[in-house]
Amino acid sequence: MTAITLINGDGIGPEICDSVVKIIEASGLKIDWDVQTAGADVIEDEGTPLPPRVLESIKVNKVALKAPVTTPIGRDFRSVNVQLRRALDLYANVRPCKNLPNIKTKFKNVDLVVIRENTEDLYAGHEHKIDENTAETIKVITRKASDRICRYAFDYATRYKRKEVCVATKANICKLSDGLFLECFRNVAKEFPKINTREILVDNLCMQLVQDPTVFDVLVMPNMYGDIVSDLTAGLIGGLGVAQGANLGLYGAVFEPVHGSAPDLKGKNKANPSALLLSAIEMLRYIKEDKYADKIEKALFKTFEAGEFTEDLGGKLSTTEFTDAVIAKLK
Ligand code: NAI
Repeated sequence: MTAITLINGDGIGPEICDSVVKIIEASGLKIDWDVQTAGADVIEDEGTPLPPRVLESIKVNKVALKAPVTTPIGRDFRSVNVQLRRALDLYANVRPCKNLPNIKTKFKNVDLVVIRENTEDLYAGHEHKIDENTAETIKVITRKASDRICRYAFDYATRYKRKEVCVATKANICKLSDGLFLECFRNVAKEFPKINTREILVDNLCMQLVQDPTVFDVLVMPNMYGDIVSDLTAGLIGGLGVAQGANLGLYGAVFEPVHGSAPDLKGKNKANPSALLLSAIEMLRYIKEDKYADKIEKALFKTFEAGEFTEDLGGKLSTTEFTDAVIAKLK
């Protein structure tokens, strides 16, 4: 039986994890879930939101499914998500964005993927106060990280027969840092002559994405822009409830939705588990359980086609009712 680390997170995390574990179990696939708690709830007992046992578990299993973890604003501990990605060097954050069956959105034929550098930029953790009225956060962009994420994007485009890789930066303003990212993109692009390239400033990208997202294919960008743009692209296909993601590195992979812990929905049995389920489906493909991935995806799409939705998509189903609806379509 395959062992997979399961971080059930906080906020809506435990509810959507329950749903996804039940659906996978109902598909007939047996997984040995190594459940690891993390986040604000474990600080009191273990002194840290990300205890070493969590990292150890992922290092051993090499694959994890992760629900969101809250990062309180202004409190004195670093984001579990950022720490995890850095500690395991999960350098590529891959966030596909494709129309889903029967989910009505402004645009048809959206099929793009945001590839976000996941280890540095404004997330490097170099932040300090100069005095009471001045604070600085240092934006770190290195050749090594920029080169490997751009290479990842071109490799991805080649593997999935994509036609174009577009780089988004603010190289006009951050001339040195984003300028270095752009330089790496241009250098790597030369090794992939069959893939078209496009360069865009990230503000213009946002404007064009909301006017016509169908012209975009693979997008690669530094960490902060990727964080923001992937919430925007989630909105193009129905919202955060259906936006999947994966953090990938040389030594492991952590699959997680784009959304956060949605404290406003915690404990209400209202969260949409689809984003975590879609992330889990990609995880199953990653561990070569394609048969089960296809089976679960089919059941999820049939549920959408039947117009059975949670409230975020205009439906009436609770999390547990939606889970049962997907399970019913597995049979
Ligand atoms: P959020 O993504 O949790 O919520 C934004 C909005 O989307 C809310 O109205 C929420 O109800 C809705 N939403 C999110 N997921 C949904 C779902 N599955 N079904 C239905 N509606 C859904 O973003 P927010 O409120 O900015 O962040 C909350 C916390 O989550 C923060 O502490 C943040 O740091 C953390 N966070 C954690 C992430 C992770 O663990 N990877 C990623 C993003 C945020």
